[in-house]
This record gives sequence, C-alpha cells and structure tokens, in this order.
Amino acid sequence: MYQTLLTELSEGIFVITINRPDKLNALNKDVIEDLSKAIDEVYKNDEIKTVILTGAGEKAFVAGADISEFTSLDVNGGEALAKKGQENVFDKIENCPKPVIAAVNGFALGGGCELAMSCHFRVASENAKFGQPEVNLGLIPGYGGTQRLTQLIGKGKAMELMMTADMVGAEEAKSLGLVNHVFPIADLLAETKKIAQKIQTKAPIAIAKVIACVNEAAKGDKDGFAKEIKRFGECFSTADMREGTTAFLEKRKASFAGK
Ligand code: COA
Repeated sequence: MYQTLLTELSEGIFVITINRPDKLNALNKDVIEDLSKAIDEVYKNDEIKTVILTGAGEKAFVAGADISEFTSLDVNGGEALAKKGQENVFDKIENCPKPVIAAVNGFALGGGCELAMSCHFRVASENAKFGQPEVNLGLIPGYGGTQRLTQLIGKGKAMELMMTADMVGAEEAKSLGLVNHVFPIADLLAETKKIAQKIQTKAPIAIAKVIACVNEAAKGDKDGFAKEIKRFGECFSTADMREGTTAFLEKRKASFAGK
C-alpha cells in the first residue's frame, strides 16, 4: 500500500516506519505523499488508537528533506514544497486527535527534527542526534522548525542551534525538553509501546481535547483559556466522563468506550 513506509497495527497501536534506510530515511516527495496518506488512515480508522512514528534501521530516524530534490527548485517551487509538506503532513500530525509519538532512533536532522517535533511528544534512543543544519545549505527550516523548536526549547537555544547547525545528542535533547525519555536502541520501540498502551487506557475524547488545548497553548492562542473552559464543559456530555467518575466512586477501574 505504501512505497516508502512500513505500517503495522497491533492492539490499537499503529507503527509507521519510514523505510529508506539507504538514504537515511530522507523525506522525498514519495515519503511526504505516503505520510500524508498514512495520517489520513489514522484519522479514519477506528481501530487505530495511538501512533508511533519511527525510522528504519539503527542509524537514522530521518536525516532531513531529500537534498537531491532541491537542485531543480526556484522560489515558487521552494515555497510550494514547504507549504505542501506543512499542510499535508506536519500540521496534520500535530492536529491529529489521536496521540502521535515520535520514537527517534538515530539522526533527526532538518526535516527529520521537524517531523519529530510535529509529533505530540518524542522519545529517543541513546544514539539519537537532533539538529536543524539548513544554514549549511543556504536554507532555513521549512517544515515548521523555526516555530516548533522555539516553542519546545525557547528562543535563545533555538536561535543557537539553527545558527550554528550544531547537533545535540539524546541526553542533551532531553535536558532541553526536546525529548521526554531516552532508551537503549534495542528497547526503544517496546518502551514507546508501553507509553502508548498506558494512554490507550484513558478516555479518548478527553485525550483529543488535551491535544487541541495544548497545541493552542504552544501557539500562544489568545483564547486558549476560554477554549479550555468550553472543552471542559463538553466532556460532561460524554459517556466516558460518566464512566470515569462513576468508576472512581465505585472504586473500580474505568473502561472507556470513546463515546
Ligand atoms: N537528503 C538526501 N540524501 C541524504 C540525506 C538527505 N538529507 N541525508 C543522507 N543522505 C544520503 C547520502 O547522500 C548517502 O547516500 P549515498 O550512499 O547514495 O551517497 C546516504 O544517505 C548515507 O549518508 P552519508 O552521508 O553517506 O552518511 P554519513 O554517516 O557519512 O553521514 C549524516 C550522516 C546524517 C551526518 C549526513 O548524511 C548528513 O549530513 N545528511 C544531511 C543532513 C542535512 O543537512 N539535513 C537537512 C536537510 S534540509
């Protein structure tokens, strides 16, 4: 079904693996198209509860946009590439109502770092390396990196990383708040699945509302508090809220239907 991705759905967890290991999983047009379709599948398929995005092999998550596709582009072509990617993939991941976790298994550079940052949060293997090295190529990040890196690690450090093109290792990325956990590479997928499984025991409609509210906060939405109040109220119309509160009072585990 996909030329450049491997996908697997098991126990509600949809693992999407970008599969161009000989090119360090660089994002060419085909990968962008396949990712767009895969995210559409996530939105539509009720069997999918959570998503893990990772890269094939032990060297790279994604080493960036495919630089070989840049040589033929002019101003309009460059803008179109960034716009299409942002709209069809990066924004769609960020706004996905189901949790999307990046399991960063190696280099996450340029578009790879941006892809990881479009996910709701990130975990990494010990060998992971993050960076926005576009200025080495006479470019700037185009898949949302200037915005999301600044949101995640703050202005000063984001400026330095984007100006120097320096890479940071997994532990430094963790101390910066770019990744939440660091695992040995052999355990990365299993540990990420444990987090996804824990999330899957919670109320899905509430989770979707958390995603929307936190995204608004990250973007500095001036109506963020008002939207939180509205969504909090909306929760009271859900069967999940009745089940969650009743289960607590009855001292039993809640079982959520996502309704
Ligand atoms: N676009 C296209 N091809 C890429 C790529 C990218 N972003 N990143 C790696 N590749 C390709 C290499 O060209 C090479 O292909 P080849 O075997 O056909 O020559 C293959 O992937 C392996 O990469 P290589 O550079 O040989 O591995 P390395 O271990 O020496 O270096 C990196 C690893 C990640 C440091 C290096 O590949 C790199 O700097 N990549 C570009 C990172 C970047 O600037 N990304 C931002 C793009 S906007």
